Order: sequence, then structure tokens, then C-alpha cells
Amino acid sequence: DWQYSLRPHRLAEYIGQEKAKENLSIFIQAALSRGEALDHVLLYGPPGLGKTTLAGIIANELGVNFRQTSGPAIERQGDLAALLTNLEERDVLFIDEIHRLPRSVEEVLYSAMEDFALDIIIGKGPSARSIRLDIAPFTLIGATTKAGALAPPLRDRFGVISRLEYYTPDALVTIITRAAEILKIPLEPQGALEIAKRSRGTPRIANRLLKRVRDVAQIAGDGIITDKMADKALKMLEIDSCGLDHTDRRLLMTMIQKFAGGPVGLDTLAAAISETTDTIEDVYEPFLIQLGFLNRTPRGRVATPAAYHHFGIPLPSEGRG
Ligand code: ADE
Repeated sequence: DWQYSLRPHRLAEYIGQEKAKENLSIFIQAALSRGEALDHVLLYGPPGLGKTTLAGIIANELGVNFRQTSGPAIERQGDLAALLTNLEERDVLFIDEIHRLPRSVEEVLYSAMEDFALDIIIGKGPSARSIRLDIAPFTLIGATTKAGALAPPLRDRFGVISRLEYYTPDALVTIITRAAEILKIPLEPQGALEIAKRSRGTPRIANRLLKRVRDVAQIAGDGIITDKMADKALKMLEIDSCGLDHTDRRLLMTMIQKFAGGPVGLDTLAAAISETTDTIEDVYEPFLIQLGFLNRTPRGRVATPAAYHHFGIPLPSEGRG
């Protein structure tokens, strides 16, 4: 599908994340020259920054198979055993949302990662016995939105830990321009910049907004994405000058109007805006923190003066004089 064709296949085509790319490129070359499996890699960072894409690229650069699954999809030890015993030498196994692996599965993973061996219990009761199965050396690539949610014994078994950062507008302009070329969308540089500035530093969002702006340009304009056309379309989508969407604004406005700017507990906030605590922590908060609109404190979440300023609301202290 289009998402797939937009995905870069080589490290050299992957835009941004310079630090992660530079490190990975060296570790990949070293593993290749030794003829060994690459050490296990943990990729972490907010959703939509290209963790899956990067994992696929790593497999591609290593010239091995790419097997993909997710933490919640592996329910039993047997599911993991089936995956691991089907791997070929040096293959990449990608586990998305690895912080959501069941605990019992996680324990089997430890010896698989460390010794390339599976300890399996056969039978029940007094006749039960444990056997050890060798598996092919492989590379586990785990992805998570929160490295802190990983059990330390699991985290410690990754030889490479790489944090993906929000993209700069410049990097996003390059990504949007590349996508527009692939999709044959007429795009002016100023149009690309307008979309980039309002994509929350996230390629997945940038590519989605590009397609929505294209729709508007086609129906309400001459099909060419100019900065004016991008602005018109993004206003229709209720995406403001900083890239905040309806939910971001609801979250911040609830903090300001219902909780006097905070501190307010995460559970309280989640209940007030009918979102899950996970979605707030993984999706909304990281970007609002990056913008400097929200802080996490030991007593709860706080809206910053910059957030008040963004909405044109006077600070409580200014009101009191
Ligand atoms: N598409 C999504 N993320 C990308 C990236 N980092 N580089 C190139 N194309 C992308």
C-alpha cells in the first residue's frame, strides 16, 4: 500500500535521526564484517517517528529476513517459541510495543536473547521436565514508547539502545517533499514548510496531513499545494499554528479552566477529558512537554505560562496583580 511504498528501504534514504543512524550504521557494518548477528536493539520514543521503518531498514542493511510482531500479540510462551524456532541465522525479529509482553513470555525471552536457547517445560505435575532447545542466533529489535516501562532485566539485554527524537521542521520538509514526489502531488516549498511546522515533529502525521491538504487543494484550488492552501486546509482540520489538534487543546484548556493550571493528577485529567492515561502519556504529553506547554511534577501535571500565552489567557497571578 502507499504507506509501504513511502517507507525508505535503506539507511541512506532515511531522513533525520542523525545520531541513531550514525551509531546503527557502524554497528551494522561491524556485525556484517564479523559475519555475526547484530546485537539486540531497543528503539524508543513517541509514536509515528519511524521505529518500525528503521527496524525494517536494519534487517535490509543486514541482508536478513524481517519478522514482525507485537507485545500484545504474543500471548503464550508457545507463541514466542514458534516465532523463535522459525528464525534463520541472523534474522531480525521485530517486537513492537515490547513493554506490553506478558510477564511469562518475557521470562522465556531472556535466555533466548542471552544464550540463543529456549527453556521449555514439557508435561505437567511430577513428570514435568525442562528441556533446552537451541535456536539460531538472531537480532531482537524491540520498540516502545516508554523505555521506563520495560522490566530492567529485559532492558539490560539490549546491547544497543536508541532514542528517536521529534523531527525538525527542516527534516520534515525533506520527508514531505520526498512523499509528494512519490505520490505525484504538486507541492511548493512554502507549502511543504507550512505542513512541516504543523506536524508535531512526526513523519506519520506529516504524511497524513500532506494527503488531506492535497484533497483540499484539488477541490478548493488548482491542485497545487501553496502555503496559503496548506494553511486553509489545516485550519479546516482544526490544526493550529503550533500543530496542536482538538485533543491537545482540550487537554490544556481543561487543565487551565477546570484545575487552575494544575498540578492535576494524570488519572483525574484522563477522566476529565475521556481519554486513557496511556494515550495521554504516550501520544499527547510528550509533544506538549517538548513545546514547553506542559510539565510533569511530583504533584501532577501543570500547564506552563507558555500554554496560557498560546491561548491568550492571562496567568492567574496576573489576574490577582
Ligand atoms: N517516512 C517516514 N519517516 C521517514 C524518514 N525518517 N525518512 C524518510 N522517509 C520517511
